[in-house]
Amino acid sequence: MIIDTHTHYDDEAFDEDRDALLSSLKEQGIEMAVNIGANIERTKKTLDLTESYPFLYGAVGVHPSETEELNESLMDWLEEAAKKPKVVAIGEIGLDYHWEEPEREVQKYWFIRQLSLARKAGLPVVIHSRDAAKDTLDIMKEHKSWEIGGVIHCFSYGLELAKEYLDMGFYLGIGGVVTFANAKKLKEVVSYMPLDRIVLETDCPYLSPVPFRGKRNSSLNLPYVAEAISQLKGITKEKVIEITNENARKLYRLGQ
Ligand code: NI
Repeated sequence: MIIDTHTHYDDEAFDEDRDALLSSLKEQGIEMAVNIGANIERTKKTLDLTESYPFLYGAVGVHPSETEELNESLMDWLEEAAKKPKVVAIGEIGLDYHWEEPEREVQKYWFIRQLSLARKAGLPVVIHSRDAAKDTLDIMKEHKSWEIGGVIHCFSYGLELAKEYLDMGFYLGIGGVVTFANAKKLKEVVSYMPLDRIVLETDCPYLSPVPFRGKRNSSLNLPYVAEAISQLKGITKEKVIEITNENARKLYRLGQ
């Protein structure tokens, strides 16, 4: 049984068969999945999904590219949402400089506010950081993020940054990208880092592993990710699954 630490089953890519797929995950070897909020509307959908499926947990939060919508009353709403029993994290939050919008100052402001929300709620954070390595690290250090804890989702930076986040006690989310032939930097990170700090994730419907690259992703593809990690680590796929499951429970503070 595998735990998927990062999914977006509220995405329209699942509109046609969401219930059939989610209802079948458990019998197909997926023990648990965490659906991650991307904006307010999708956080609401996340909460609905966690109420419908016992094995599904949720993270509430607003992705950096969606922070333009945030205001004080929505922050109050997020604070209340974070108290729901199946909410296990604040996320995904962070910085994304791949796109020009929203302005960097806007992204930074709401990133810091949501970090504070996580601290107040006593929940770990799910960090999204793209083309924003320095600012993300600076903010996380300045705000003592090691006291909050969490995961750097879809880790895409090099060894140096990996060491920084590992030193702060963070987990690194590893997904389909590790199966890509050209993912040299990530393979180097996975080879180097301790297995007890890796969590498996799909980011579905995105980032399908080889041999399904480009197609819709789901938690069912995680064995390909575990296999790629097992080859880099020189251990069995079963061992990778066993240890990363343990990590996922620690990350989201879920009992055995
Ligand atoms: Ni995501």
